[in-house]
Amino acid sequence: MPLLIKHGRIITSTDDYTADIYCAGDTISRIEKSIDPGSCAAGTEVIDAAGKYVFPGFIDPHVHVYLPFMGTYAKDDWESASRAALMGGTTTLIEMICPGKADEPMGAFETWLGKAQGKSTCDFTFHMGVTRFDDLAEKQFREIVKRGIRSFKVFLAYKGALGVDDRELYHTLKLAKELGVVVTAHCENETLVAERQAELLAAGKTAPQFHEPSRPVQVEAEGVHHLMTFAELTGAEVYVVHTSCDEAAREAQRAILRGVKAHIEVVLPHLVVDQSYTEKPGFEGAKYVMSPPLRDKSQLPKMWDHLARRTVATVATDHAPFDFETQKTMGKDAFTKIPNGIPSVENRVDLLFTHGVTTGKIDLHTFVDCASTRAAGIFGLKGKGTIAVGADADLVVYDPAYRGKISAKSKTHHNMATDYSAFEGWDLRGRSDTVSVRGQIVVRGGTFVGKSGAGRLVPRG
Ligand code: URP
Ligand code: ZN
Ligand code: ZN
Repeated sequence: MPLLIKHGRIITSTDDYTADIYCAGDTISRIEKSIDPGSCAAGTEVIDAAGKYVFPGFIDPHVHVYLPFMGTYAKDDWESASRAALMGGTTTLIEMICPGKADEPMGAFETWLGKAQGKSTCDFTFHMGVTRFDDLAEKQFREIVKRGIRSFKVFLAYKGALGVDDRELYHTLKLAKELGVVVTAHCENETLVAERQAELLAAGKTAPQFHEPSRPVQVEAEGVHHLMTFAELTGAEVYVVHTSCDEAAREAQRAILRGVKAHIEVVLPHLVVDQSYTEKPGFEGAKYVMSPPLRDKSQLPKMWDHLARRTVATVATDHAPFDFETQKTMGKDAFTKIPNGIPSVENRVDLLFTHGVTTGKIDLHTFVDCASTRAAGIFGLKGKGTIAVGADADLVVYDPAYRGKISAKSKTHHNMATDYSAFEGWDLRGRSDTVSVRGQIVVRGGTFVGKSGAGRLVPRG
């Protein structure tokens, strides 16, 4: 159904103005000071956005939906994950394809694609995980790139599981440079992590709060330095995922200043929760175990500052949803067995707005830039990340006057499949009121009205 959004304050990464937006189909057809509904197609739905912002659909460039990991599987499927994303204003997800080391990349690509296609309500694409690099894998990576997956993912962590060795890293970056694709990377020195984990467990330090000391800031900064050395030598473009601390961000910045093509991502949890959450009693701390770990609270203002100065390019979630009762408890006797991850795909935009924009830590343009526009640019998501005639009609009518609370007991802000929210009881100051994906309304007045399976694989440039 054609869509006319009237009187909204349109915010992009650079512009701020009030106008009407008309979408006759998948894309934005007209943006004018005032559009008469009579000049639109019969049956056009009119949304009054007076007093509200109109943002481009938000993009989360780092999520896990189908994730076999640490002896279990992440809890969401594409139906629940995309519904949760859309309720939170995110209209495009980029998922990490994470094959086991023995798996063939093409088989993994088909598996991950098959899980999203026909199920997802939002648009989606993937980063192709490189967990092995040999002749067969290389041939298949070339095919996968031809099919439009123009980014790779490597893990320098997770020894013996997803991690690549230096030979594999080098050849992945060389291939990426040749094909012109970006390599996203989880940067932690896997040997240091493994040795420190063993030492802590041997000393009887088994609780969730010892996850952070097993992989301190130096371990992450070393991982980033390592990646940058390889990127510099190969000329490949790289993207550091879930940068948790100033030390790691500075390593990446130093490389950028000497000409390495690199981008820095932070994830929402690292901006709003800190290491002290892992000390919660009754094993509750396990809800906050992710890698890289939550850091000392002194890191949070530094990461906000990187964001405000736009040295950090994007804010993602690293959504990796595991239940508390049946999955996080796998690590009752050893923090090393707690499935890593914090479910947050639904809360990123609202928490970034509440804790970033309403407090003045970031301005509205930076908000749109880091939560949408920059990801579209870096990963070549055609038609996404902005509001302009011809762009995809992915639009978020955002209500800054909304006041509410997150709770896993209510679908208002928790449509993820997990049995808990890491942000239980937190206040929200703003929410996505109406959301469209390519012109189709999927959230109306805060209620989900989307059709599962309507989401599409995003073409990449
Ligand atoms: O804790 C995390 N980050 N879990 C998901 C896997 C990954 O490293 O991205
Ligand atoms: Zn990671
Ligand atoms: Zn991840």
